[in-house]
Order: sequence, then C-alpha cells, then structure tokens
Amino acid sequence: MAKVLVTGVAGFIGSHLSRALVEQGHEVRGLDNFSTGSRKNLLAVPVDVHVVDLADAELVSNACEGIETIFHLGALPSVPRSVKEPRPSHEANLDGTFNLLEGARAAGVKRVVYAASSSAYGNQPGFPRVETMKPEPIAPYPVQKLAGELYMQSYWRVYGLETVCLRYFNIFGPRQVPDSPYSGVMARFILQMLQGQQPTIFGDGEQGRDFTYVANAVQANLKAAAAPAEAVAGKVFNIACGERHTLNETYQVIARLLDHEGPPAYGPVRAGDVKDSLADITAARDAFGYNPEVGFEEGLRRTVAWY
Ligand code: UD1
Repeated sequence: MAKVLVTGVAGFIGSHLSRALVEQGHEVRGLDNFSTGSRKNLLAVPVDVHVVDLADAELVSNACEGIETIFHLGALPSVPRSVKEPRPSHEANLDGTFNLLEGARAAGVKRVVYAASSSAYGNQPGFPRVETMKPEPIAPYPVQKLAGELYMQSYWRVYGLETVCLRYFNIFGPRQVPDSPYSGVMARFILQMLQGQQPTIFGDGEQGRDFTYVANAVQANLKAAAAPAEAVAGKVFNIACGERHTLNETYQVIARLLDHEGPPAYGPVRAGDVKDSLADITAARDAFGYNPEVGFEEGLRRTVAWY
C-alpha cells in the first residue's frame, strides 16, 4: 500500500488517523516535535516516528521523500495560545506549513490533506457557515490557519500539488490533552469534573459550537485522500456534524454523564473567541461522501468512558 506521512502524528487527531491508516494497510511515517503530542498516544501503533520540528525545512523535506499522500495535522493549536504568544504559533502553524509544502513539492508528493480551522469564519453574520462565505478571522490562530489554506490552494494552482483543506469544527474525543490552559473545552470540563473542581464557562455560556467527534474527522481525512482530484483538489470543506450545541448545554450533558453536581462558574469572555459556530456540511458530503456517523451525545459518552 502507499506510503503516507502524518505530521503531528503523536497528537490528538494525528494518533487517531494513524491507527486508521495502519488498519487500512498503509505504511505510515510520522513527524512530531512532541511539543503537545505524546508517545503514549501511539502505543502499539506501528508507525515510523521521526522527531522533527516543522521549523526545520531540511528535515521536513527529507521526510517527504517517497511519500504519496501527506496528512498535515502538525500545529500549535488554540486560539487563546495564539493571542498570548503569537510568534511560536505563527512559526509552527504558518512557517511549518510552508516548509511542508516546499518539501512536498520537491519530493513530488501527490496530495496533501490539510487541517484547516472553522475559526476562519470569525463573527460575520450568517449561519450555517458555507465554504463560499468570506472569511473574517479574528485572532492570530485563525489567520495562520487561513493563510495555510491559501498556500495550499496556491500550490495546487501553480504546481499541481493536489491539496485539500478540511476546516474542522471543534473536534473532541479520547486523547485530547485535558490539562493545559489551552485544552479544548470538553476535555477540560471532563477532567475538572473528575477532579471535583468547578469548571468555568467564559461568557454567558450561550455561545454555540458544532462539536465534532474525532472519528468523523478521521473518516473525512480518509475519504478526502481517496477521492478523485476533480472532486477535491484546491478545495475547502467544512468538517462538522451540522448541529449547534451551547456551552451551557454541553456542561449539563457532561455533568449528567459523570454524575457531577453543582453549577459552573462564569467568567469573562475570552479574547479572540467567536460567538457562534455551525457548519453546512453539504460540500464534503457531495464531494467525497463525508457522513458524520458519531453524534454529539454518543461522542461524549465514548470520550467520558475513555477517562
Ligand atoms: C477554535 C476553533 C476550532 C479550532 C480550535 C483550535 C472556532 C469556532 N473553533 O475552537 O476550529 O480547531 O480553536 O484550538 O473558532 N471555554 C470555556 N471554558 C473553558 C475553556 C473554553 O468556557 O475552560 C469556552 C471558550 O471560551 C469557547 C468554547 O469554550 O467559547 C470553546 O473553546 P475551545 O474548546 O478552546 O475551542 P474554540 O476556541 O471554539
């Protein structure tokens, strides 16, 4: 089977995707600098892991040799991290993406599937979000992720490298880092409740998110990689469930699953936060048969069971 490269292989989404790729019979090479990823995430997964920082153009380029498809998930995630420390975020997310594209081009890689972000839509009016809407990124992180998309599209147009951008909407599930101030909200709430702490909701809790279980993101990657170029190359797709859940509701569901009692605390709105998020997933359905099979509650049940 074809040789594939996964950047961010030891991270949350990267480790789930790598397992699925190995199960499909692919030979997987992986890159990680272990800044947020962990070796534990890859226990018993036969992946050829190279400890490489995406900032190292030469090592990144070497890693692209002999590869047919790249899944580019390596990044320094989190909107608030990018607000607090924009430079490392920029270097990992944008310079790193550029280094990867250059490596891919030189090595004659066929396709790159890129982890883009729903945060690119910002706070403009109009729901659900459709890929044809004008992006309005607020914080540095969405700017970096969006600039990465534009680079992806340019490399398709100019060099014929088949690039596909998947705009993830709040992916959650097992192995998401739960104990960092920059952790995704669900992982954070679950760990805090398990530790008997009172989670804090930033704002009034009525902000909505299109929370998407990680298996759906894996499915999107596999299908986007296998689809004919005419359907996906140079294009951008929302990857979500097409359902909006408020944070107040999310808090209640997690509390019920964990038998946690007591209300959340409320704090100030986070700088750079978007108010609402909800995706139209028609484009991904039509182009490559994306079909989110694990919904919000089932995803949360599986996530809670993992802890
Ligand atoms: C954003 C992007 C997502 C991207 C992710 C990368 C949007 C809509 N989504 O997620 O595509 O992959 O960044 O990190 O922009 N919150 C609390 N209490 C907490 C932690 C968070 O109330 O302890 C709130 C946040 O203020 C926010 C919501 O929960 O309103 C979700 O936050 P988070 O999980 O960090 O993800 P986003 O920033 O929405």
